[in-house]
Amino acid sequence: MIKYVIHGGKPLTGTVEISGAKNAALPILAATVLADGPCRVENIPSISDVSICTDILYNLGADVTVVDRHTLMIDPTRVNSFTVPSDLARSMRASYYFIGSLLGRMGQAKMTTPGGCDFGVRPIDQHIKGFEMLGAKWSMDRGMLCFSADSLVGGHVYLDVVSVGATINVMLAAVKARGLTVIENAAREPHIVDLANFLNTIGADIMGAGTDVIKIRGVSYLPGGSYSIIPDQIEAGTYMVAAAATKGDVTLKNVIPKHLESITAKLQEMGVEVEEGDECIRVRYVGELQKANVKTQPHPGFPTDMQPQITTLLCLAKGTSLVTENVFDNRFKYVDELRRMGANITVDGRVAVVEGVGGFQGAPVKAVDLRAGAAMLIAGVVATDRTEIEDIHHIERGYENVLEKFRKLGADIKRIDVPDDMRLAKAL
Ligand code: UD1
Repeated sequence: MIKYVIHGGKPLTGTVEISGAKNAALPILAATVLADGPCRVENIPSISDVSICTDILYNLGADVTVVDRHTLMIDPTRVNSFTVPSDLARSMRASYYFIGSLLGRMGQAKMTTPGGCDFGVRPIDQHIKGFEMLGAKWSMDRGMLCFSADSLVGGHVYLDVVSVGATINVMLAAVKARGLTVIENAAREPHIVDLANFLNTIGADIMGAGTDVIKIRGVSYLPGGSYSIIPDQIEAGTYMVAAAATKGDVTLKNVIPKHLESITAKLQEMGVEVEEGDECIRVRYVGELQKANVKTQPHPGFPTDMQPQITTLLCLAKGTSLVTENVFDNRFKYVDELRRMGANITVDGRVAVVEGVGGFQGAPVKAVDLRAGAAMLIAGVVATDRTEIEDIHHIERGYENVLEKFRKLGADIKRIDVPDDMRLAKAL
């Protein structure tokens, strides 16, 4: 078993370069299937979710050329399959973006239900409703979702919940549909704008991304093109919180400060100094952290993907804070792990009551999902003794070079491989 071993207690200082956004890269890679010519995509994060996405592209028949560590050239002209391999589909949530892009390209798509982080029930009824509004039919055949359409025709889609995934999937299916598609109550996350910008760069006609009404005028031909992905809002937010939690002073490079506003505002409310530059941001601990209440919301609200990290920081603040999770129904599973490190948190449904405890003690813990793993990392670099984090594959799904980046900021963190027979010997 591979785990991270951290000896914390030192302030993080220095600079960290933020990678391309995972949640933009994955739909953009899926969207290349729609193109009629090669697409060059730059600033792709080197993380395991991206590898899964490129494996899916290979399996569908696309040519994927690695130009360099962060640049791929994808030529989808020979895509000839509409079935996403089940093992790949189950290993990440974003695999479902291939339903939208394959439907848009071939009028058919087949895939098992997607995997991804477990935050309770994660229905895809809004995706399905959107596809149906464009004329697709669907059925379930031995665990496989099967979609087909003789021809997709633009339609009016009102999403009942603000869903990032459904907004993206309907956009993908609509790009080559005949006529105008209007998505109302659309999600407004920066990665939705980035996907629309990518699609427009390769020949699509999309307006309104970033607002709650997106209009997509169908086109029949997408010549392809070259595009560079935005920086990762959540990776940046994670390092911002880590800087504050360790009483450090960290400058983040390659960020869009506008995308970080809700995180910046919350840190400032807690007494952290945040200084914005053009494409950088400096986060500095300047004195005792103050309690704050956090309510997660779709963008531009406080992101649910930062909820475990900010909850970890609130453990170090003076007083009692409330964290309300408004996006997912079960996103506090990591709290048990944080308690092992000394946190005093009570969860009641969607609300966590966080009592400030001043510090953490090192302990063996698990990364129960991707952002929960980030929270464990933050608690680990704060704790003055040894922390071991298991199930780190969750962390490596979404954070590029995380060990090197933390080490460069002064953290003592190693990735160790404990052979299974040694674990058994210890247990006996
Ligand atoms: C995406 C992100 C995830 C982030 C989330 C919210 C990716 C790969 N994942 O997940 O990191 O936490 O956005 O910012 O980008 N819902 C329905 N029916 C649907 C779809 C969603 O009821 O058909 C509900 C969900 O259960 C949830 C809410 O809508 O309560 C928001 O989910 P959604 O925005 O769709 O999240 P994902 O796209 O799965």
